[in-house]
Amino acid sequence: MPDRPSVPSVPFVPSTPISIPRETWTRHPNWPQQVLLLGSHDNFRRVSRHLVECAEDREDVAFIGSLFVRWISAMRSHEAYEEHKLYPYLTKRWGVDFGRASEGHAQLHARADEVVAAVRDLVNADDANDDLHEALAAALRAHDDVLVDHLAHEEECVIPLLLQMSATEFQTYTMLPLDDLIRRLDDGRLPGR
Ligand SMILES: [Fe+2]
Ligand SMILES: [Fe+2]
Repeated sequence: MPDRPSVPSVPFVPSTPISIPRETWTRHPNWPQQVLLLGSHDNFRRVSRHLVECAEDREDVAFIGSLFVRWISAMRSHEAYEEHKLYPYLTKRWGVDFGRASEGHAQLHARADEVVAAVRDLVNADDANDDLHEALAAALRAHDDVLVDHLAHEEECVIPLLLQMSATEFQTYTMLPLDDLIRRLDDGRLPGR
């Protein structure tokens, strides 16, 4: 199995006004009911690692391609929820800048396109050689690197704020559409704030 290139670690600069150390999250009274998105993130990391291992072990490319496409579809739904509700709400509520997080989504899309291209090259090859297999594994590793970085950054931005919400605010946030939430924040009528 080839060595994975080390990912340069970017010092994390908190962009949230509330800091709750990661090691204390599980002891917070609003854990886990207000941070269920962490379960999705854990699944994403697991599927991504599994795909890398499948490619490195040269498992059936049709299986890898099919699993990747189905997984990415779930990822896109998750990202759409974040970009159209979670990020704008937290930006309005606490002035958080989600520029780096949104850029992470864009980078994931670019890396995913490269995975799909590598799958296509292997499927279309008359003679699937080592280079094509390694290109697919490399594309999946590159996607995994961006994913791991994005999820860690997003969790540091989002989880303290989700934990900080009162149960009433969180329930209201969950139930109402974004435009209604924004109106209530503007009017000072958000229950639980
Ligand atoms: Fe995200
Ligand atoms: Fe996420």
